[in-house]
Amino acid sequence: MRVLAIESSCDETAAAVVTDGHLIESNIVASQSELHAQYGGIVPEVAARAHLGSIIPVVRQALADAHVEWQDLDVISATRGPGLPSALVVGFGVARSLAFGLGLPFVPVDHIEGHVMANWLTQNDELDVPLLPAVALVVSGGHTELLLVEEGPIFKRLGGTRDDAAGEAFDKVARLLGLSYPGGPEISKFASNAVVRKMHFPRAWLRGTDDFSFSGLKTAVYRTVEESSNPDINEIAWAFQESVVDILSKKAIRAAEREGAQSLLLAGGVAANRRLREVVYERSTIPVHIPLPTLCTDNAAMIAAATRMEMAIAPDKLIDIDPTPYRSRVQKK
Ligand code: KG4
Ligand code: ZN
Repeated sequence: MRVLAIESSCDETAAAVVTDGHLIESNIVASQSELHAQYGGIVPEVAARAHLGSIIPVVRQALADAHVEWQDLDVISATRGPGLPSALVVGFGVARSLAFGLGLPFVPVDHIEGHVMANWLTQNDELDVPLLPAVALVVSGGHTELLLVEEGPIFKRLGGTRDDAAGEAFDKVARLLGLSYPGGPEISKFASNAVVRKMHFPRAWLRGTDDFSFSGLKTAVYRTVEESSNPDINEIAWAFQESVVDILSKKAIRAAEREGAQSLLLAGGVAANRRLREVVYERSTIPVHIPLPTLCTDNAAMIAAATRMEMAIAPDKLIDIDPTPYRSRVQKK
């Protein structure tokens, strides 16, 4: 089964061709980050217009890279949400129209489930299939969620952020430090230049819950910058990153152990963070799966991976699926 998937929930216009939910034949991502960098964050109206400009070339490129024609496709899918509504409708509308025109099934896909399913992707035929039940930590610009993934798969929400998402904290702290957007890769770069590594920021553990909070940490960084005549950006970036990595890794591992998980999955843009990857691999007693950094940040291959899962779970919904309003399948635990 060959899927053409489209993703346009935020500031990446993406299309991918994936076979059998695993094998990536092409994966095209047109990033708008330079466009939004001048504003210090994403402007929804600007994002929507940029998606309109790039969606057709991106889809064409995805087919060309995969060496396939329209008639070689079996299914078309797109991100249904969550995301910026004005951005989502571009990819969703194009994908649904293509499916209509080609007479193919159309499958709307949850963006968060897509991030998790990136752990089932491969660029060659080798795939280290994650065992279920698993605990998944989804950390992106818009979300910080701990999910229990059971056979099905069924997604149950264990906890999540009470304020900023992890990626949002990286982006806002980068802005405080005068670094550019997106903040995650910038903070990571400056942190690696830190020499002294003695600064310490607080960690909000929210013990007894699987929830997270990053607003206090953000305020602590703000205070440090305000109170210093010559703040050391490298040291601050390092201490901030250590704090986030410490919280995310310990809470995710603890939840996985408690739930008797067979694997711990990381997903989302922040999972591209080198230090987070290193610490989770180091600390976890449970097998860890983290997608390649390019498959952690927004892409359409992950939406294609989740498409097969959607079809397996709800084949009756295949042809005529009510695409609106957005309804997550994630259940409360
Ligand atoms: O998953 P993603 O591409 O989009 C959303 O669904 O939000 O995640 C984007 C987020 C941004 O906040 C960005 O700063 C963060 O992921 N990010 C990183 C790194 N690369 C991207 N955060 C920390 N370290 C990184 N290397
Ligand atoms: Zn995302």
